Amino acid sequence: MRAVDIIIKKRDGGELSKDEIEAFIQGYTRGDIPDYQAAAWLMAVYFRGMSRRETTDLTLAMAHSGQVLDLSSIVPFAVDKHSTGGVGDKTTLVVEPLVVACGQPMAKMSGRGLGFSGGTLDKLESIRGYRVDLSIEEFLHNLRTHGIVLCGQSADLAPADGKLYALRDVTGTVPSLPLIASSIMSKKIAAGANAIVLDVKVGLGAFMPTLDDALRLAETMVDIGRDAGRQVVALISDMNQPLGEAVGNALEVREAIETLHGRGPADFREHCLVIASHLLVLAGRAADSSLRSGQALNAARAQLEAALADGRGYAKFRELVAAQGGDVIQVDDPNNLPRALLVRQVSAPRAGFLATINAAEVGRAALELGAGRTKKGDPIDHAVGVLVHHKVGDHVEAGQPLFTIHANDPARLAAAQDRLLQAITWSDTPVPPLPLFYRMVT
Ligand code: URA
Repeated sequence: MRAVDIIIKKRDGGELSKDEIEAFIQGYTRGDIPDYQAAAWLMAVYFRGMSRRETTDLTLAMAHSGQVLDLSSIVPFAVDKHSTGGVGDKTTLVVEPLVVACGQPMAKMSGRGLGFSGGTLDKLESIRGYRVDLSIEEFLHNLRTHGIVLCGQSADLAPADGKLYALRDVTGTVPSLPLIASSIMSKKIAAGANAIVLDVKVGLGAFMPTLDDALRLAETMVDIGRDAGRQVVALISDMNQPLGEAVGNALEVREAIETLHGRGPADFREHCLVIASHLLVLAGRAADSSLRSGQALNAARAQLEAALADGRGYAKFRELVAAQGGDVIQVDDPNNLPRALLVRQVSAPRAGFLATINAAEVGRAALELGAGRTKKGDPIDHAVGVLVHHKVGDHVEAGQPLFTIHANDPARLAAAQDRLLQAITWSDTPVPPLPLFYRMVT
């Protein structure tokens, strides 16, 4: 089977067989198929799409491109979460330690930034020494010893996704339903989760711009999970405006730490509590199983709020950082995290109600400051980014701060300022706030 024939078949709108998908994924993982052919194939999939059957076959081929973990000897029922990608989405940094602090061990494999959306691994690497590349032995050892792991795909777990993910980031092939669904679900299946909470973002700063698209993505992933014997809950959440205030790696780590200390922006804290409550309920940790789902979610939330209030969530985060080689001095005092040389406030040019804060544009501003990549393997500037001081619906007076830009280069700072001002639209009449969540798919 020649790679070029598989590319041509997809380019011309054909449906690939299971064997063709497996051959392509295995060939690319081994290095027999070069990046340029994989890029062409990704673009063909982007334009032609994939059937449900092809998407499931692609997911399983990627999941089995390396080892598939069985965690049952360490965690009787493993849960995991994943976001489809957004701007200011540092949810994992809060949710995972909180859930572990409530007694449910959790090991998570995360990704790097994709396009204008940030990646958990890039955020974590703001912490000096933090190792995202763990071997499977280290992954299992840390889960057994600390109950918590947060790392990248090791070369042995879903390696096909690791390679394709980096290639998609720089070939304009990120926002594709089958590619997103298979990327996420292959990692989750390979990492051994029995139950998964998916945070499917919708809106201007999401890869799925409409609720219909997000629902289709959610349903596809829930179905793939069910076919693979996993329980999956998908929550469709808003990504029209950035989540929380901070966008940019070290700034987001700082905000996550603030939130674990019981402070942090209200929308971000609430978002984390909802996702974490679903994880605890799926794990059967939310008190007794006779509770109806609403009551179980409330019971879970009470546990999570207690872990925030008494510092157990933060203590788990600190333990995670130490276990993976990170410098805890930087998390104990986030002033020690990387800091930008230039910090400039952007003020409101007029008074009015904020009608739009375009999350994608805010993400692009952060990317252009150096917080993300434009080419595969580009270095990242962990210090730079943007603080967004308001939410849609807020009334702002002229001259009040809208954003604070953290930059290391004056020209990039000026470009970010222009972009951020373009990201806003105004209204003279009141604008309702945006919801945090729209739907749940089970
Ligand atoms: N997160 C992933 O892991 N993969 C995607 O394609 C998008 C978000």
